[in-house]
Amino acid sequence: MTSHLRRALVAGNWKMHTAYEEAVHLAREVATSCSDASDVEVVLIPPFPWIVTLAELVRGSMLSVGAQNCSVYERGAYTGEVAAFMLAPFCRYVIVGHSERRHLFGETDEIVAAKLARVFAHGMTPILCVGERLEEREAGQTLAVVERQLATAAASIDRSQAGRLVVAYEPVWAIGTGRPATAADAQEVARFIRGWLTERYGERAGRALRVLYGGSVTADNAGTFFSEPDIDGALVGGASLDAAQFCGIVGAARVVARAKKGA
Ligand code: 13P
Repeated sequence: MTSHLRRALVAGNWKMHTAYEEAVHLAREVATSCSDASDVEVVLIPPFPWIVTLAELVRGSMLSVGAQNCSVYERGAYTGEVAAFMLAPFCRYVIVGHSERRHLFGETDEIVAAKLARVFAHGMTPILCVGERLEEREAGQTLAVVERQLATAAASIDRSQAGRLVVAYEPVWAIGTGRPATAADAQEVARFIRGWLTERYGERAGRALRVLYGGSVTADNAGTFFSEPDIDGALVGGASLDAAQFCGIVGAARVVARAKKGA
């Protein structure tokens, strides 16, 4: 049992929600209500324009800030893009390859791999999202899809970085549907992810890297995921827009983290 070596991580992906005042209010509420989260890393991932303000706001607290995406390019004439180096002073994490980016904005595995390299190069930690669509699950292709996504991404990860990686398993059919995966199904894929990366990068990295579950996580169901040995936290969408729900999820992570530590 080695899961206690890894710090639990609960990240709230606010997607394209929150006006400025709402974002500030939500961040303040979370900072106040989740203040006793010493066993859990809590990350707010707001839309780009609020990142600087939120980074200021959470400075000195238990919280950190992440970004939902970054450009595949380093810098230059790329109108509308936001480069990794611009995020680096404010963000600890950057989500890479979220299914909404893959499926609504045409991000290929190769683009995701290139973004991953940018995030690492600028000293931030990527939260690499992987996950199958419903028809792929029904066709029994879940692990093959996840393996393909991991394999292409791995081209951008070297041995020294692998232990810092965060992978979020987010089955596409569970995102925003109120229909989460079962904890057992999520654990099966989380274990596969850790096993695959361990084979490629060695035991040490495999034990250190964190695997999150995402897809209709709530304060009510979060504990069942966190109790699984290979699930180290959650990437939360809808429920992260409600401070009480989000802090309920953080609370569940704290309870399990303490239990795992004692195990
Ligand atoms: P929901 O929690 O709203 O299902 O969204 C999950 C997600 O996409 C987090 O990145």
